[in-house]
Amino acid sequence: MKIERILLKNFRALHDVELKDLPPFAVFVGENGSGKSTLFQVFGFLKDALMNNLNTAMQRMGGYKEVATRGHTGEPIVIEIQFRMAITGKERLVTYHLEITNRNGASVAQREILRYKRGAYGSPFHFLDFSEGQGYAISNEEDFDKSDEALTKDFQTLDSPDVLAIKGLGQFQRFKAANNFRHLIENWHVSDFHITAARQRVEVGVAEHLSESGDNLPLVARYLHQNEPGTFNGILQKFEERIPGMSKVDAKVTEDGHVLLRFADGSFKDPFISRYVSDGTIKMFAYLVLLHDPRPHPFLCIEEPENQLYPRLLGTLVEELRDYAVRGGQVFVSTHSPDVLNHVDLDEAFLLKKEQGVTAIHPLADNQQIKELVEAGDKLGWLWIQDLLEIQ
Ligand SMILES: Nc1ncnc2c1ncn2[C@@H]1O[C@H](COP(=O)(O)OP(=O)(O)OP(=O)(O)O)[C@@H](O)[C@H]1O
Ligand SMILES: [Mg+2]
Repeated sequence: MKIERILLKNFRALHDVELKDLPPFAVFVGENGSGKSTLFQVFGFLKDALMNNLNTAMQRMGGYKEVATRGHTGEPIVIEIQFRMAITGKERLVTYHLEITNRNGASVAQREILRYKRGAYGSPFHFLDFSEGQGYAISNEEDFDKSDEALTKDFQTLDSPDVLAIKGLGQFQRFKAANNFRHLIENWHVSDFHITAARQRVEVGVAEHLSESGDNLPLVARYLHQNEPGTFNGILQKFEERIPGMSKVDAKVTEDGHVLLRFADGSFKDPFISRYVSDGTIKMFAYLVLLHDPRPHPFLCIEEPENQLYPRLLGTLVEELRDYAVRGGQVFVSTHSPDVLNHVDLDEAFLLKKEQGVTAIHPLADNQQIKELVEAGDKLGWLWIQDLLEIQ
């Protein structure tokens, strides 16, 4: 699955933004306050709305009035995502359209649609179409090639107009597109990594994937060590190459039923527990665990991955993020680092700019002068330092 296009309206500073032809690995740069975190919040918001409901997700962001673009609080918030995914064995270009409105202080799904084209011609067919908790979904999408009449509209009323139809219906196998899209959102990873969380020891348990905050790092390390020794050894080897002195990491189970990470420094006999190693050490280990996940997420968002890391390591990190995009599906990254940008290809880079209080997003590949400079051998990070990314 890959996101091809995103249309956002009225979501904080993203008053009217369309991102087209998104690559598998996309990097977003821009001044402070230009809207990078806001773009990433959209994905977290949608996941939260799916796992819970619209009101809960909106409240966590400060409420509808805070989320809607200033001066436009009477207008709906629109999130439209177009993505490629296999449905009943065929690749389809599917559009998910969500329109959220504020009704007496509560957020409701004014319209929610999943649509895709049934043939080479004609307008896309709505396989799911709900308005304020009522609507239908097609329950025999496998009959895709048959006539409209052969498709069965299964009319439903949701528990509440702030519940997404893809949540209610997505759990049923018979609604293929809704089921697939729900599965995608549930499995996307919007990193909210905190070094302090990743340093903690944790109660014994099982975790296969690194959590968004990184607070289950010892459990994932233990899982990989026990179940994926090849992967774990590969991680250790890379870790050793990148952090001077580090020779081994293990996840020790303590007598009181906790798991803690220990880092062996070749110069000393006793290992250091995670609380006493450096920030960059924890972060690099967590990235290696995240990016070498044997079952990668279909979509991964990471803000400013360069923080705490030595600049020379950033080229390799970019390579690993790009590889992950190939294995998983797609990776979005924001950055303030010229060293990161120096390793990014022109068609992977997007510049965010505040224009009259709202965000505009420009693909750098659209800029002829930048294109010529890159073709002549310049790197994006160098151009950025010289303030040349802004030229039109
Ligand atoms: N409802 C709203 N309407 C319009 N603008 C808003 C709204 N809510 C927040 N903003 C503005 O949106 C801007 C975008 O902030 P954001 O955190 O996305 O920037 P950023 O690119 O991540 O910056 P940084 O590099 O500092 O992390 C902020 O300047 C904020 O004031
Ligand atoms: Mg930010």
